[in-house]
Amino acid sequence: MFENSKNWLTPTLRNTLLEHPQLNEHELAYFVYQLDELKQHLLDLQDQDVIKLWYAVKANPLSRIIQTLDSAAFNFDVASAGELQQVLAQGVVPERILNTGPAKSLTQLTEFLTQGVSVFIVESINQLKWLNQAAKKLNKRPKVLLRVQLQWQEGEKNPLGGNSVTPFGLSTGEWQEIHVKQYPQLNLCGLHIFQWGNMLSNQKMYALWQQMVSALVELACSIGMPLNILDLGGGLGVDYFEQGETLSWPQIIADLAHIKAQANVEELWLELGRYAVAHCGYYVVPVVDRKVNYQQQQLVLAAGINHLLRPAITEQPFPVRLLRDSSAPSTYFDLYGPLCTSLDKLGHLPLPEDIEVADQLVFAYAGAYGFTESMPFFLCHQTAAEYVIENGKMSEVRAAQPASWYLA
Ligand SMILES: Cc1ncc(COP(=O)(O)O)c(C=O)c1O
Repeated sequence: MFENSKNWLTPTLRNTLLEHPQLNEHELAYFVYQLDELKQHLLDLQDQDVIKLWYAVKANPLSRIIQTLDSAAFNFDVASAGELQQVLAQGVVPERILNTGPAKSLTQLTEFLTQGVSVFIVESINQLKWLNQAAKKLNKRPKVLLRVQLQWQEGEKNPLGGNSVTPFGLSTGEWQEIHVKQYPQLNLCGLHIFQWGNMLSNQKMYALWQQMVSALVELACSIGMPLNILDLGGGLGVDYFEQGETLSWPQIIADLAHIKAQANVEELWLELGRYAVAHCGYYVVPVVDRKVNYQQQQLVLAAGINHLLRPAITEQPFPVRLLRDSSAPSTYFDLYGPLCTSLDKLGHLPLPEDIEVADQLVFAYAGAYGFTESMPFFLCHQTAAEYVIENGKMSEVRAAQPASWYLA
């Protein structure tokens, strides 16, 4: 199990990164993923019999990451045709794939059914009608979970909505307009609910899950659905601020065993994103300039939100260290990227005072919502490379590319 330890830049990792030769002239910065550690973490998560685990591919769709999840018997949650193709291309059978997302058209649903996907999280009445129609035409009967959006009195606002109204699913009131009998071509057998993000408190998570159960059981009953499956999405958090806040996995399993009994479901599912893969990944980038501006210590990096957008969206920085060893005391620096917007900032974070131009910085927890969540095209910079470390050896999976690669 990965620990949220401040000592994540281990001597072994530091040496591997220091020895990394820059062979590609276009490589400014790169992501690197530790696959052996990832595999062990995933096997630890699988060492229980309470929940069935799916991987939310959006967190990191890199082939080698998907292969590692596959080898640890995870199933896959895909939210687009691109994610589906990427998972199928790794040799995963479609029976182990489910489809979430608010933008499923009749065309997409038909395509997914044709490709063999047989589990759908349905987020609107139209999706339900279209899936029924497509399933009839193709003579299939997929499993369907309805995505429910609840409101709480003391809800929190977060990237997935919290108490604000979002396109992710429908309220119980809207779902009560349907009845399972109207969709004979669908095996409507479960509910899905997920509207929180980066939770770091076991108590809070358990309280949220508990508050939902009665509303969900009631809904299933009123629309004639046997509630066999409950899918609680993702949202298990990572301690980006390094404040020592961390979830206990054994406690999550114990809490979910209660939820499973309370909801009286046969299967409880989670689709993990960051909790599965964030810890295995790092982002390495050099310092291009250092200056003091209005008493602010500023570092300008070779890349910023063009490679690592998440801090600008969430105001949660990825923790950072200087790659080389330094015994200088730390001070706070503002870390900027090369784009023409003050949004291009990776954080206000402590680093050794003796940091210099050309020093390399390493950001942690970049295994999730890194490379593919970013905005690589703005200002026509090079894309980041992606590497894996396996059996102590670092190898390239995706080379860095110059702007001419994507400009037309
Ligand atoms: C439907 C669904 N499931 C799971 C996840 C994964 O969330 P997390 O990375 O917080 O585990 C997401 C993330 O947006 C999602 O939209």
